[in-house]
Amino acid sequence: MGAEIKNLKDLQNTEYSLRKLFDEAEDFLPLLGTDYVELYVGNAKQSAHFYKTAFGFQSEAYAGLETGVEDRVSYVLKQDKIRLVLTTPLEKDGVLNEHINEHGDAVKVVALWVEDATKAWEETTKRGAKSYMEPTVEEDDHGKVIRSGIHTYGETVHIFVERKEYNGVFLPGYQKWESHYNPAPVGLKFIDHMVGNVDWNEMNKWCEFYAKVMGFAQIISFDDKDISTDYTALMSKVMSNGNGRIKFPINEPAAGKKKSQIEEYIQFYNGAGVQHIAVATDDIVATVSAMRDRGVEFLYVPENYYDDLLKRVGEIDEDVEVLKQHGILIDRDDEGYLLQLFTKPVLDRPTMFFEIIQRKGAQSFGKGNFKALFEAIEREQENRGTL
Ligand code: FE2
Repeated sequence: MGAEIKNLKDLQNTEYSLRKLFDEAEDFLPLLGTDYVELYVGNAKQSAHFYKTAFGFQSEAYAGLETGVEDRVSYVLKQDKIRLVLTTPLEKDGVLNEHINEHGDAVKVVALWVEDATKAWEETTKRGAKSYMEPTVEEDDHGKVIRSGIHTYGETVHIFVERKEYNGVFLPGYQKWESHYNPAPVGLKFIDHMVGNVDWNEMNKWCEFYAKVMGFAQIISFDDKDISTDYTALMSKVMSNGNGRIKFPINEPAAGKKKSQIEEYIQFYNGAGVQHIAVATDDIVATVSAMRDRGVEFLYVPENYYDDLLKRVGEIDEDVEVLKQHGILIDRDDEGYLLQLFTKPVLDRPTMFFEIIQRKGAQSFGKGNFKALFEAIEREQENRGTL
Protein backbone atom coordinates (compact mmCIF):
# COMPACT_ATOMS: atom_id res chain seq x y z
CA MET A 1 0.00 0.00 0.00
CA GLY A 2 1.02 3.58 -0.44
CA ALA A 3 2.87 2.75 -3.67
CA GLU A 4 3.11 5.52 -6.18
CA ILE A 5 3.16 5.41 -9.99
CA LYS A 6 6.10 7.54 -10.99
CA ASN A 7 6.11 6.68 -14.64
CA LEU A 8 2.93 5.76 -16.44
CA LYS A 9 4.58 5.12 -19.78
CA ASP A 10 4.95 1.35 -19.52
CA LEU A 11 1.52 0.82 -18.18
CA GLN A 12 -1.13 0.17 -20.77
CA ASN A 13 -4.11 1.44 -18.80
CA THR A 14 -5.14 2.33 -15.30
CA GLU A 15 -6.86 -0.95 -14.61
CA TYR A 16 -3.63 -2.78 -15.45
CA SER A 17 -1.47 -0.36 -13.51
CA LEU A 18 -3.77 -0.54 -10.52
CA ARG A 19 -3.72 -4.32 -10.57
CA LYS A 20 0.02 -4.12 -10.24
CA LEU A 21 -0.38 -1.91 -7.19
CA PHE A 22 -2.67 -4.28 -5.40
CA ASP A 23 -2.27 -7.81 -4.29
CA GLU A 24 -5.62 -9.06 -5.63
CA ALA A 25 -6.01 -11.55 -2.84
CA GLU A 26 -5.83 -8.61 -0.49
CA ASP A 27 -8.82 -6.77 -1.95
CA PHE A 28 -10.99 -7.35 1.09
CA LEU A 29 -13.40 -4.60 -0.01
CA PRO A 30 -14.39 -5.15 -3.66
CA LEU A 31 -16.38 -2.10 -4.82
CA LEU A 32 -18.62 -2.23 -7.88
CA GLY A 33 -18.97 1.55 -8.16
CA THR A 34 -20.56 4.60 -6.56
CA ASP A 35 -24.15 3.76 -5.62
CA TYR A 36 -25.47 7.21 -4.68
CA VAL A 37 -24.43 10.54 -3.17
CA GLU A 38 -26.79 11.97 -0.55
CA LEU A 39 -26.83 15.66 0.33
CA TYR A 40 -28.58 17.10 3.37
CA VAL A 41 -30.12 20.34 2.13
CA GLY A 42 -32.38 23.10 3.44
CA ASN A 43 -35.06 22.64 0.79
CA ALA A 44 -34.94 19.36 -1.14
CA LYS A 45 -37.85 20.25 -3.41
CA GLN A 46 -36.11 23.38 -4.68
CA SER A 47 -32.66 21.76 -4.86
CA ALA A 48 -34.16 18.96 -6.95
CA HIS A 49 -35.58 21.55 -9.32
CA PHE A 50 -32.10 23.14 -9.65
CA TYR A 51 -30.33 19.84 -10.39
CA LYS A 52 -32.98 18.94 -12.97
CA THR A 53 -33.01 22.31 -14.67
CA ALA A 54 -29.32 23.26 -14.52
CA PHE A 55 -27.58 19.86 -14.49
CA GLY A 56 -30.06 17.76 -16.50
CA PHE A 57 -30.81 15.19 -13.81
CA GLN A 58 -33.98 13.11 -14.21
CA SER A 59 -36.72 12.53 -11.64
CA GLU A 60 -36.21 9.03 -10.25
CA ALA A 61 -37.69 8.32 -6.81
CA TYR A 62 -39.26 9.99 -3.79
CA ALA A 63 -39.80 9.27 -0.10
CA GLY A 64 -41.70 11.47 2.33
CA LEU A 65 -45.03 11.83 4.13
CA GLU A 66 -46.89 10.31 1.14
CA THR A 67 -44.78 7.14 1.37
CA GLY A 68 -44.98 6.80 5.15
CA VAL A 69 -41.73 8.60 6.09
CA GLU A 70 -42.48 11.13 8.81
CA ASP A 71 -39.26 12.93 9.70
CA ARG A 72 -37.73 13.74 6.30
CA VAL A 73 -38.29 14.01 2.58
CA SER A 74 -35.87 12.68 -0.05
CA TYR A 75 -35.80 13.23 -3.81
CA VAL A 76 -33.68 10.87 -5.92
CA LEU A 77 -32.31 12.19 -9.21
CA LYS A 78 -30.51 10.24 -11.89
CA GLN A 79 -28.37 10.90 -14.94
CA ASP A 80 -26.85 7.83 -16.62
CA LYS A 81 -24.97 6.13 -13.73
CA ILE A 82 -25.06 9.09 -11.31
CA ARG A 83 -27.61 9.06 -8.51
CA LEU A 84 -28.10 12.09 -6.25
CA VAL A 85 -30.33 11.96 -3.17
CA LEU A 86 -31.49 15.29 -1.72
CA THR A 87 -32.83 15.07 1.83
CA THR A 88 -34.47 17.69 4.05
CA PRO A 89 -35.75 17.19 7.62
CA LEU A 90 -39.45 17.82 8.28
CA GLU A 91 -39.11 18.55 11.96
CA LYS A 92 -37.03 20.79 14.19
CA ASP A 93 -33.86 19.60 15.93
CA GLY A 94 -32.27 16.23 15.21
CA VAL A 95 -29.12 15.21 13.36
CA LEU A 96 -30.22 16.39 9.93
CA ASN A 97 -30.91 19.92 11.16
CA GLU A 98 -27.63 19.97 13.08
CA HIS A 99 -25.77 18.89 9.94
CA ILE A 100 -27.38 21.63 7.84
CA ASN A 101 -26.81 24.24 10.55
CA GLU A 102 -23.16 23.27 10.86
CA HIS A 103 -22.22 22.72 7.20
CA GLY A 104 -24.92 24.29 5.04
CA ASP A 105 -26.18 22.14 2.17
CA ALA A 106 -23.59 19.38 2.04
CA VAL A 107 -22.71 15.84 1.04
CA LYS A 108 -23.45 13.52 3.95
CA VAL A 109 -23.25 10.09 2.29
CA VAL A 110 -20.92 8.73 -0.37
CA ALA A 111 -22.58 5.36 -0.91
CA LEU A 112 -20.61 2.50 -2.46
CA TRP A 113 -22.16 -0.41 -4.33
CA VAL A 114 -20.96 -3.79 -3.04
CA GLU A 115 -21.73 -7.49 -3.43
CA ASP A 116 -21.83 -8.05 0.31
CA ALA A 117 -22.64 -5.15 2.66
CA THR A 118 -22.26 -7.28 5.78
CA LYS A 119 -18.75 -8.36 4.86
CA ALA A 120 -17.83 -4.77 3.81
CA TRP A 121 -18.86 -3.54 7.28
CA GLU A 122 -17.08 -6.38 9.08
CA GLU A 123 -13.83 -5.99 7.14
CA THR A 124 -13.68 -2.20 7.58
CA THR A 125 -14.75 -2.00 11.24
CA LYS A 126 -12.30 -4.82 12.02
CA ARG A 127 -9.56 -2.57 10.57
CA GLY A 128 -10.53 0.40 12.71
CA ALA A 129 -13.46 2.13 10.95
CA LYS A 130 -16.04 3.66 13.26
CA SER A 131 -19.46 2.15 12.57
CA TYR A 132 -22.22 4.47 11.32
CA MET A 133 -24.83 1.81 10.53
CA GLU A 134 -24.70 -1.88 11.39
CA PRO A 135 -25.73 -4.19 8.51
CA THR A 136 -29.47 -3.58 8.12
CA VAL A 137 -31.96 -5.42 5.91
CA GLU A 138 -34.63 -3.26 4.26
CA GLU A 139 -37.46 -4.93 2.35
CA ASP A 140 -40.53 -4.16 0.28
CA ASP A 141 -42.51 -5.81 -2.56
CA HIS A 142 -39.52 -5.41 -4.90
CA GLY A 143 -37.08 -7.42 -2.80
CA LYS A 144 -34.48 -6.62 -0.23
CA VAL A 145 -31.46 -4.35 0.16
CA ILE A 146 -28.78 -4.67 2.81
CA ARG A 147 -26.98 -1.50 3.86
CA SER A 148 -24.22 -0.81 6.37
CA GLY A 149 -22.05 2.23 6.98
CA ILE A 150 -18.84 3.68 8.40
CA HIS A 151 -17.60 7.18 9.23
CA THR A 152 -14.91 8.92 7.18
CA TYR A 153 -13.47 12.49 7.37
CA GLY A 154 -15.52 15.17 9.17
CA GLU A 155 -19.16 14.16 9.44
CA THR A 156 -19.14 12.42 6.07
CA VAL A 157 -20.01 8.71 5.92
CA HIS A 158 -19.74 5.79 3.52
CA ILE A 159 -22.74 3.51 3.19
CA PHE A 160 -22.26 0.09 1.59
CA VAL A 161 -25.25 -0.91 -0.54
CA GLU A 162 -25.97 -4.54 -1.48
CA ARG A 163 -28.84 -4.59 -3.95
CA LYS A 164 -28.51 -7.87 -5.87
CA GLU A 165 -31.92 -9.05 -4.61
CA TYR A 166 -33.73 -5.80 -5.33
CA ASN A 167 -35.52 -4.56 -8.45
CA GLY A 168 -37.38 -1.51 -7.10
CA VAL A 169 -36.78 2.06 -8.22
CA PHE A 170 -34.15 2.97 -5.57
CA LEU A 171 -34.40 1.58 -2.04
CA PRO A 172 -37.28 0.04 -0.08
CA GLY A 173 -39.60 2.84 1.09
CA TYR A 174 -39.13 4.93 -2.07
CA GLN A 175 -41.68 5.23 -4.83
CA LYS A 176 -41.27 6.22 -8.46
CA TRP A 177 -41.22 9.99 -8.80
CA GLU A 178 -43.46 10.91 -11.72
CA SER A 179 -42.99 14.50 -12.86
CA HIS A 180 -44.37 16.41 -15.83
CA TYR A 181 -41.19 18.54 -15.82
CA ASN A 182 -38.36 16.61 -17.45
CA PRO A 183 -35.55 18.76 -18.90
CA ALA A 184 -33.15 16.80 -21.14
CA PRO A 185 -29.92 15.34 -19.70
CA VAL A 186 -26.71 17.26 -20.46
CA GLY A 187 -24.51 14.17 -21.00
CA LEU A 188 -23.17 13.54 -17.48
CA LYS A 189 -22.23 9.84 -17.34
CA PHE A 190 -20.68 8.73 -14.06
CA ILE A 191 -18.70 10.00 -11.08
CA ASP A 192 -15.02 10.09 -12.02
CA HIS A 193 -13.72 11.05 -8.57
CA MET A 194 -14.86 12.78 -5.38
CA VAL A 195 -12.52 15.06 -3.47
CA GLY A 196 -12.35 15.57 0.28
CA ASN A 197 -10.93 18.68 1.95
CA VAL A 198 -9.39 18.01 5.35
CA ASP A 199 -7.75 20.32 7.89
CA TRP A 200 -4.06 21.21 8.32
CA ASN A 201 -1.81 18.14 8.63
CA GLU A 202 -4.72 15.70 8.28
CA MET A 203 -4.15 14.53 4.70
CA ASN A 204 -1.82 11.69 5.56
CA LYS A 205 -4.07 10.48 8.36
CA TRP A 206 -7.04 10.17 5.98
CA CYS A 207 -4.96 8.63 3.19
CA GLU A 208 -3.84 6.05 5.70
CA PHE A 209 -7.47 5.47 6.64
CA TYR A 210 -8.33 4.68 3.01
CA ALA A 211 -5.26 2.45 2.72
CA LYS A 212 -5.62 0.53 5.95
CA VAL A 213 -9.37 0.47 6.52
CA MET A 214 -10.60 0.28 2.92
CA GLY A 215 -7.62 -1.30 1.11
CA PHE A 216 -7.06 1.66 -1.26
CA ALA A 217 -3.64 2.58 -2.68
CA GLN A 218 -2.16 5.99 -3.29
CA ILE A 219 -1.79 6.55 -7.04
CA ILE A 220 -0.63 10.18 -7.21
CA SER A 221 0.59 12.90 -4.89
CA PHE A 222 0.99 16.65 -5.37
CA ASP A 223 2.83 18.90 -2.98
CA ASP A 224 2.78 22.63 -2.51
CA LYS A 225 5.37 23.05 -5.29
CA ASP A 226 2.90 21.54 -7.76
CA ILE A 227 -0.12 23.41 -6.47
CA SER A 228 0.75 26.92 -5.50
CA THR A 229 0.22 30.38 -6.85
CA ASP A 230 1.85 33.57 -5.65
CA TYR A 231 -0.53 33.58 -2.73
CA THR A 232 -1.84 30.20 -1.69
CA ALA A 233 -1.00 26.52 -1.72
CA LEU A 234 -2.44 23.12 -1.06
CA MET A 235 -1.31 19.51 -0.96
CA SER A 236 -3.16 16.54 -2.39
CA LYS A 237 -2.95 12.76 -2.63
CA VAL A 238 -5.17 10.54 -4.73
CA MET A 239 -6.39 7.25 -3.24
CA SER A 240 -7.92 4.57 -5.47
CA ASN A 241 -9.59 1.23 -4.87
CA GLY A 242 -8.39 -1.94 -6.63
CA ASN A 243 -10.40 -1.73 -9.85
CA GLY A 244 -9.95 2.06 -10.17
CA ARG A 245 -13.69 2.77 -10.15
CA ILE A 246 -13.49 4.71 -6.89
CA LYS A 247 -10.97 7.54 -6.61
CA PHE A 248 -10.82 9.88 -3.65
CA PRO A 249 -8.26 12.69 -3.79
CA ILE A 250 -7.66 14.23 -0.33
CA ASN A 251 -6.57 17.88 -0.03
CA GLU A 252 -5.11 19.79 2.88
CA PRO A 253 -4.07 23.45 3.05
CA ALA A 254 -0.40 24.40 2.77
CA ALA A 255 1.27 27.57 3.97
CA GLY A 256 1.14 30.54 1.58
CA LYS A 257 1.15 34.32 1.76
CA LYS A 258 -2.65 34.39 1.93
CA LYS A 259 -5.53 32.11 2.88
CA SER A 260 -5.78 29.05 0.65
CA GLN A 261 -9.04 27.90 -0.91
CA ILE A 262 -8.93 24.84 1.36
CA GLU A 263 -8.82 27.03 4.46
CA GLU A 264 -11.74 29.04 3.12
CA TYR A 265 -13.66 25.81 2.64
CA ILE A 266 -12.81 24.51 6.12
CA GLN A 267 -13.87 27.83 7.64
CA PHE A 268 -17.28 27.97 5.91
CA TYR A 269 -17.94 24.24 6.11
CA ASN A 270 -16.83 24.06 9.75
CA GLY A 271 -14.46 21.18 9.19
CA ALA A 272 -13.61 18.49 6.69
CA GLY A 273 -16.03 17.55 3.93
CA VAL A 274 -16.57 16.83 0.24
CA GLN A 275 -15.10 19.64 -1.87
CA HIS A 276 -16.06 18.58 -5.36
CA ILE A 277 -17.78 15.87 -7.34
CA ALA A 278 -16.12 15.26 -10.71
CA VAL A 279 -18.53 13.94 -13.31
CA ALA A 280 -17.50 12.45 -16.63
CA THR A 281 -18.90 13.31 -20.04
CA ASP A 282 -18.15 12.01 -23.57
CA ASP A 283 -18.56 15.47 -25.07
CA ILE A 284 -17.46 18.27 -22.78
CA VAL A 285 -18.22 21.04 -25.27
CA ALA A 286 -21.86 19.95 -25.61
CA THR A 287 -22.20 19.34 -21.85
CA VAL A 288 -20.68 22.64 -20.76
CA SER A 289 -22.54 24.72 -23.33
CA ALA A 290 -25.87 23.10 -22.30
CA MET A 291 -25.10 23.75 -18.63
CA ARG A 292 -24.15 27.37 -19.28
CA ASP A 293 -27.40 27.86 -21.22
CA ARG A 294 -29.25 26.53 -18.19
CA GLY A 295 -27.60 28.93 -15.78
CA VAL A 296 -24.63 26.99 -14.33
CA GLU A 297 -21.73 29.30 -13.49
CA PHE A 298 -18.20 28.14 -14.27
CA LEU A 299 -14.83 29.47 -13.16
CA TYR A 300 -13.47 32.05 -15.54
CA VAL A 301 -10.09 31.32 -17.11
CA PRO A 302 -8.32 34.26 -18.78
CA GLU A 303 -8.04 34.06 -22.55
CA ASN A 304 -4.23 34.08 -22.44
CA TYR A 305 -4.44 30.52 -21.04
CA TYR A 306 -5.02 29.47 -24.66
CA ASP A 307 -2.09 31.39 -26.15
CA ASP A 308 0.51 28.62 -26.00
CA LEU A 309 -1.92 25.77 -25.42
CA LEU A 310 -0.92 23.55 -28.35
CA LYS A 311 2.74 23.93 -27.43
CA ARG A 312 1.94 22.62 -23.96
CA VAL A 313 -0.49 19.82 -24.80
CA GLY A 314 0.35 18.91 -28.40
CA GLU A 315 -2.19 17.78 -30.99
CA ILE A 316 -5.80 17.56 -29.81
CA ASP A 317 -9.01 16.61 -31.62
CA GLU A 318 -10.89 19.72 -30.50
CA ASP A 319 -10.86 23.18 -32.00
CA VAL A 320 -8.96 25.48 -29.61
CA GLU A 321 -11.26 28.39 -30.50
CA VAL A 322 -14.29 26.37 -29.37
CA LEU A 323 -12.57 25.35 -26.14
CA LYS A 324 -11.61 28.97 -25.53
CA GLN A 325 -15.17 30.10 -26.12
CA HIS A 326 -16.35 27.72 -23.39
CA GLY A 327 -13.39 28.22 -21.05
CA ILE A 328 -12.51 24.50 -21.12
CA LEU A 329 -9.05 23.51 -19.83
CA ILE A 330 -6.78 20.82 -21.30
CA ASP A 331 -3.92 18.83 -19.82
CA ARG A 332 -1.78 15.97 -21.10
CA ASP A 333 0.01 13.12 -19.34
CA ASP A 334 1.91 10.05 -20.57
CA GLU A 335 -1.30 8.24 -21.51
CA GLY A 336 -3.29 10.91 -23.31
CA TYR A 337 -5.10 14.12 -22.48
CA LEU A 338 -8.10 15.34 -20.57
CA LEU A 339 -10.48 18.28 -20.77
CA GLN A 340 -11.96 19.77 -17.62
CA LEU A 341 -13.81 22.69 -16.11
CA PHE A 342 -14.94 23.60 -12.59
CA THR A 343 -18.25 25.20 -11.67
CA LYS A 344 -18.42 27.94 -9.08
CA PRO A 345 -19.76 26.69 -5.73
CA VAL A 346 -23.33 25.45 -6.24
CA LEU A 347 -24.37 26.46 -2.71
CA ASP A 348 -24.48 29.76 -0.84
CA ARG A 349 -21.42 28.98 1.25
CA PRO A 350 -18.18 28.83 -0.80
CA THR A 351 -17.90 25.09 -0.28
CA MET A 352 -18.99 22.41 -2.75
CA PHE A 353 -18.66 22.57 -6.52
CA PHE A 354 -18.67 20.24 -9.51
CA GLU A 355 -15.97 19.41 -12.02
CA ILE A 356 -16.90 18.36 -15.56
CA ILE A 357 -14.22 16.08 -17.03
CA GLN A 358 -13.69 14.29 -20.33
CA ARG A 359 -10.80 11.83 -20.45
CA LYS A 360 -9.08 11.03 -23.72
CA GLY A 361 -6.60 8.50 -22.44
CA ALA A 362 -5.24 10.56 -19.55
CA GLN A 363 -5.82 9.03 -16.14
CA SER A 364 -4.38 11.93 -14.14
CA PHE A 365 -6.10 14.97 -12.65
CA GLY A 366 -5.02 17.98 -14.66
CA LYS A 367 -1.86 18.99 -12.82
CA GLY A 368 -0.92 21.35 -15.67
CA ASN A 369 -4.14 23.30 -15.05
CA PHE A 370 -3.78 23.69 -11.31
CA LYS A 371 -2.15 27.07 -11.48
CA ALA A 372 -4.72 28.53 -13.88
CA LEU A 373 -7.56 27.02 -11.87
CA PHE A 374 -6.33 28.19 -8.52
CA GLU A 375 -5.75 31.68 -9.81
CA ALA A 376 -9.35 31.60 -11.04
CA ILE A 377 -10.51 30.45 -7.59
CA GLU A 378 -8.44 33.20 -5.95
CA ARG A 379 -10.17 35.82 -8.08
CA GLU A 380 -13.45 34.50 -6.67
CA GLN A 381 -12.01 34.55 -3.12
CA GLU A 382 -10.88 38.12 -3.70
CA ASN A 383 -14.46 39.04 -4.61
CA ARG A 384 -15.70 37.38 -1.43
CA GLY A 385 -13.05 39.09 0.67
CA THR A 386 -11.79 35.72 1.92
CA LEU A 387 -8.36 35.53 0.29
FE1 FE2 B 1 -11.03 16.94 -9.52
